[in-house]
Amino acid sequence: MKIACVLLLVALMVHESSQRLTVSGKTFRLNNQQVFLSGGNLPWINYARDFGNHQWSKVKPKIEEQIRLLHQAGGNTMRLWVHIQAESSPKFSSSGFVTAPDNDGTLLNDIKDLLDTALKYDVLIIPCLWNGAVNQDNAHRLEGLVTNQQKLQSYIDKALKPMVAKVKGHKALGAWEIINEPEGLMIPGVKDNTKCYDTVATQNDGMGWAAHKYKYKDMLRFINWQAAAVKAVDPGALVTMGVWNPKSNTDHFGKVNHYSDACLRLAGGKHAGVLDFYQFHSYSWQNKWDNVSPFVNSASAYGLNKPIVVGEFWEKESAGMNMNELFSYAYNHGYAGAWSWDLMTYGPSQRAGMTHIKNLSNHGKVHIDL
Ligand SMILES: *[C@@H]1O[C@H](CO)[C@@H](O)[C@H](O)[C@H]1NC(C)=O
Repeated sequence: MKIACVLLLVALMVHESSQRLTVSGKTFRLNNQQVFLSGGNLPWINYARDFGNHQWSKVKPKIEEQIRLLHQAGGNTMRLWVHIQAESSPKFSSSGFVTAPDNDGTLLNDIKDLLDTALKYDVLIIPCLWNGAVNQDNAHRLEGLVTNQQKLQSYIDKALKPMVAKVKGHKALGAWEIINEPEGLMIPGVKDNTKCYDTVATQNDGMGWAAHKYKYKDMLRFINWQAAAVKAVDPGALVTMGVWNPKSNTDHFGKVNHYSDACLRLAGGKHAGVLDFYQFHSYSWQNKWDNVSPFVNSASAYGLNKPIVVGEFWEKESAGMNMNELFSYAYNHGYAGAWSWDLMTYGPSQRAGMTHIKNLSNHGKVHIDL
């Protein structure tokens, strides 16, 4: 009897330690404990050329070293960028349809090896697929996926689903991020009877800084279909995207939450294609935070029903706050995570910020075991 109990206990413990990151209300949980996702951005080593086409082996030593340093500092999460604007992956036909994850057939193994590497250091990885913060899509590849449903479906079938399947259930997968800052390419000032597609509320806020290219109807379908595809292959995987400013991600402050479940489902029609958590970026302007910044508001101010990670911030535009203060603010004001920008150029002060909060536990543990 005693032995049976011990065996049962061991079995339960083994089961618990094999749990993945999940969302519960406005918090993250791992191994039955609330956790705070503390970490940083290592967006790229070679911009848009880190994964696929035999590129990973060249950058892996540098990325592994950054993962090791982050873990050593007490951080638990790293965000990296995969396709960006399709400069080197996925593989496209001359007419703009995706035919494979990459030309040389290494991308899937590269992503798997990234996650296996992170697992050794108990670090969660956020692979960010696309980038909307710049307008360098000269070959119109990303553009085709955003605006043409058949092209988007080709990416989902030939690259996204195989990639998600390759690392299905991986414990070092924090979340799939569909796109970084799509607002850089959105058309501001669009009047539309449907609130989800109307950008009048953000027309003087800087939306469309890279180009006035996309309507929300297209961008939200782009996100909805990919989120649904991730869920179809790996139902336990979390999905997010990163906004340039909370102004596009809240119905408070006189703004519109374009990325609500309702807006994503309306645009793309796929029920499962919604986000598990939100991710705000915040930079000060002329040494002041704007009134919507997560560094002058608690998470509850946005009226959202999911966890919020402050996914980009840096000391160069932080209204005088230092890294320790930035990490502390996010930890103590209802946010579920904080990822500084960026580890390659400003690593030491960011790792100090992670160390500063690493022992805290009242709003979630920072130390994690994967
Ligand atoms: C965290 O806790 C450890 C162990 O108690 C201690 O040695 C360390 O100084 C603490 N670090 C910080 C930054 O509070």
